[in-house]
Amino acid sequence: MTTVYLNGEFKPLSTASINVLDRGFTFGDGVYEVIPIFNRKIFCFDEHMQRLENSLEAIFMDNPYSSIQWRSIFEELIETIEESEQSIYLQITRGVTERDHDITIAKNPTIFVMPRPVEKKNFSVGINAITHEDIRWQYCDIKAITLLPSVLLRYKANQQGAKEAILIRDGYITEGAASNVFICKNGEVFTPLKDKHVLPGITRDLVVEILANNNITHLETVISEKELLNADEVWITSSTWEIVPVTQLNNLPVGTGETGALWKKVDDLYQEFKSVYCL
Ligand code: PDD
Repeated sequence: MTTVYLNGEFKPLSTASINVLDRGFTFGDGVYEVIPIFNRKIFCFDEHMQRLENSLEAIFMDNPYSSIQWRSIFEELIETIEESEQSIYLQITRGVTERDHDITIAKNPTIFVMPRPVEKKNFSVGINAITHEDIRWQYCDIKAITLLPSVLLRYKANQQGAKEAILIRDGYITEGAASNVFICKNGEVFTPLKDKHVLPGITRDLVVEILANNNITHLETVISEKELLNADEVWITSSTWEIVPVTQLNNLPVGTGETGALWKKVDDLYQEFKSVYCL
């Protein structure tokens, strides 16, 4: 039985329900976070809280809780889970109102937190990805629950036997449908700059920090579609998938078509960081 948190109460998932007039349901009017739990510890709590704060501010909402309150909700949920590796899904919507675009009528947010099992990954052999035009909006830096474009992009990728779509806007890479992107060329690592077309991924930022701390040459810069297609290695990153090598793009091999040495090195460093952090 999964226990969840909904508007001040802990209850079984099967009995948790919300009003059909919730603005999350009628407008997709809300934001979310996905926070990894390793060894029953919350990974990068402060970073996720800061991004939540930024997302809320961008949609003109106040954070309903302090960091201390959020932490105690997560910790209470972590006590209920069996597997020590999970993720926490947190969603805040603008709450229940009549179906009116006006946001000023919304007074009580809906707050939902749920632990989720981590997808059993066997990504160390690499995944296939496709490239696709970035069909999303101009506020991709907000972690908004309005995910129809990403859902459609993942569907298109899956239809072609791939697990992710790497998105191209005006000839340049932005990110994946639900991940950030890194490429390697001649021993150097590159990732797109953070702007309004890229979610500031917590895993992305951590990987950049790991590269810097270990003197691995790297650059946050614009990356063209051509550079992506000619890369020696391509990785995607997210809280739940971590660092995943992309070994095929549009059914063609990336570099040798095998997982790369740089990926292995950085993934080892990441795993080491994680195990120390979550001791
Ligand atoms: N998605 N970019 C997009 C569009 C994402 O949806 C995600 C994560 C990321 C990676 O961010 P982070 O490293 O902070 O997880 C980048 C989550 C996992 C999801 O929607 O389930």
